[in-house]
Amino acid sequence: MSDLIYEGKAKKVFKGLEPHQYVLYFKDDATAFNAQKKDVIESKGILNQKIASQVFQYLENHEVQTHFIKSLSDREMLVEAVHIIPVEVIVRNITAGSLCKRLGIEENIKLDKPLIEFCLKSDALGDPIMMEEHIYIMNLATHEEIQHIRHEALKINTLLQKLFDDLGITLADFKLEFGKTQAGKIVLADEITPDGCRLWDQATGKILDKDRFRKDLGGLAEAYQEVLTRMTEKALA
Ligand code: TMP
Ligand code: ASP
Repeated sequence: MSDLIYEGKAKKVFKGLEPHQYVLYFKDDATAFNAQKKDVIESKGILNQKIASQVFQYLENHEVQTHFIKSLSDREMLVEAVHIIPVEVIVRNITAGSLCKRLGIEENIKLDKPLIEFCLKSDALGDPIMMEEHIYIMNLATHEEIQHIRHEALKINTLLQKLFDDLGITLADFKLEFGKTQAGKIVLADEITPDGCRLWDQATGKILDKDRFRKDLGGLAEAYQEVLTRMTEKALA
């Protein structure tokens, strides 16, 4: 394969054959708590590449601009090259995870409207939560860009809630990353997979996301396979 540009915890990024394109390679590595907990889960990368490709295609079909070009193989996705804005955008529909831990809020409470949080994308600092003003003093993005990102995040949330609801799955929360193309356009980047979402089966309450790994519940690949199977059977439109 072509030159390695970057290796993250769950993916490698390679130069594509064409200019301004990258190839994302999805690994089987699973990490949590800023990589203090690590394991290799066979086939996770394949499942995530397939899930992310279907989700990006669905979002593209609904006029969301993303870096997705096409799936190349089980583990490889061709994307438009972007500079990732080092701000993780978390969208929450139901209380869970760090929101509850940090503020002492009860889990599993439906929010009246989606909550957007920003975290600094920094492994060294453990991805600290940040206020919008912190983004500006660090010059990570402009006010106009963040308003666009907020708008896109809410649109993506509405589309993803519908997508998962149609599969009998509740989308409690998820994390997005945005990137800037060569032309200066901001697009959805990174991945949307059960690694970065909280997905709960509506019939049984079963956890179908990376919380299975974080909480030592086991059966992670089986849960991701369940999500992929439902997506494939439903043939997302
Ligand atoms: P949190 O409750 O731990 O802040 O997580 C909120 C959502 O963001 C959850 O769906 C998992 C996802 N997430 C990531 O994708 N990467 C991360 O580094 C963290 C902390 C959370
Ligand atoms: N993504 C982070 C890590 O790999 C944290 C998490 O997802 O829980 O450590």
